[in-house]
Amino acid sequence: MPVPLLTDSAMRTSENQLTSMTADPSITVTVRDLRKHYTVHEKEPGIRGSLRSFVRRNSRQVHAVDGVSFDLEAGEMVGFLGPNGAGKTTTLKMLAGLLHPSGGQVRIGPYTPKERRTGFLKLITLVMGQKQQLIWDLPAYDSFLVNQAIYEVPDDQFKATMHEFIETLELEQIVKKQVRKLSLGERMKCELAAAPLHRPRVLFLDEPTIGLDVNMQVRIREFVADYNRRYNATVMLTSHYMADVTALCNRIIVIDKGRIIFDGDLSRLVEQTAPAKIIRLQLSTPVTVEHLASYGHVHSFDGLNVELKVPRAETTRIAARLLAELPVADVTIEDPPIEEIIGQMFSQMRAEQRDQAAAGEPASVA
Ligand SMILES: Nc1ncnc2c1ncn2[C@@H]1O[C@H](COP(=O)(O)OP(=O)(O)O)[C@@H](O)[C@H]1O
Ligand SMILES: [Mg+2]
Repeated sequence: MPVPLLTDSAMRTSENQLTSMTADPSITVTVRDLRKHYTVHEKEPGIRGSLRSFVRRNSRQVHAVDGVSFDLEAGEMVGFLGPNGAGKTTTLKMLAGLLHPSGGQVRIGPYTPKERRTGFLKLITLVMGQKQQLIWDLPAYDSFLVNQAIYEVPDDQFKATMHEFIETLELEQIVKKQVRKLSLGERMKCELAAAPLHRPRVLFLDEPTIGLDVNMQVRIREFVADYNRRYNATVMLTSHYMADVTALCNRIIVIDKGRIIFDGDLSRLVEQTAPAKIIRLQLSTPVTVEHLASYGHVHSFDGLNVELKVPRAETTRIAARLLAELPVADVTIEDPPIEEIIGQMFSQMRAEQRDQAAAGEPASVA
């Protein structure tokens, strides 16, 4: 199917609509004490277990989301992080109105998501990297047309948005092929184009880059950043790839066992949690590893290139000593990788919980 070209008048209309939309600052997201509890029935393995479960069912409550509160300003991009099973997908599904909360409130602009009003559905979108929304046997472009009809997108706006997305995501050759013949990355790009075709003001992205190669991840990140800039859209994003988060989000919300354990600037998290910095040196003549160890923990060393881990508070003093005392050709100072920092945050928390449990106090994670 040919992809229609954008006319000048379509472009003008889209610019006008854009100005009126981005001028509206009222689309904020408010989440208060949000909860989702599941009752899980457990069965012992084997036939005996099945028989026993007829007589007496063991059920257990899972507190998937356990009292979550936060606010998102219009236009903010927030990374939503946490280990598997922390409650990220459940939270996003409640924000998108796909799941009814067990307790608490969510407001997005003037709407309550669980009511799924038409105005609300036009305001948001949810992209799940693990779930497909495009029609398998048709070209992606046909799914775009279906979405145009569902969301009642005017022709001019549809053409303008399509043109823009096809360009940013390089979809020209892809949208005409049957979806089932596309590679994972190509399909994901089409999924990502289909979801905000109606120009929603709030994007929930759940693992949008999962399983994709680095180039494709970068392309998708660029698309999200571009969409955010153009439409002042609010973005809440979960990803296993920290590069997605560091590239797009200043603020992160960390969730663990259904509770928020950090909400703030990524830089604050780094300062708060990472007690060390990495000093990277390039030497002009080799020195011994024993000599280097007197400055800090030698993280890696190959004769001329050295990575030293040093306490954050002593970074400047040690760097000055290194420059004065060693044949340094080049030096850089960095924070440890964010994966390491988040991992450290969780292990610190687990240790505190263990200590509290051992001391007989109730565990607190906040
Ligand atoms: N439909 C369900 N029934 C029972 N438990 C569920 C259901 N959906 C999710 N859970 C549980 O809720 C917790 C949070 O899951 P989820 O929100 O998918 O976590 P995440 O996206 O952070 O990996 C997990 O313990 C998961 O097993
Ligand atoms: Mg998930």
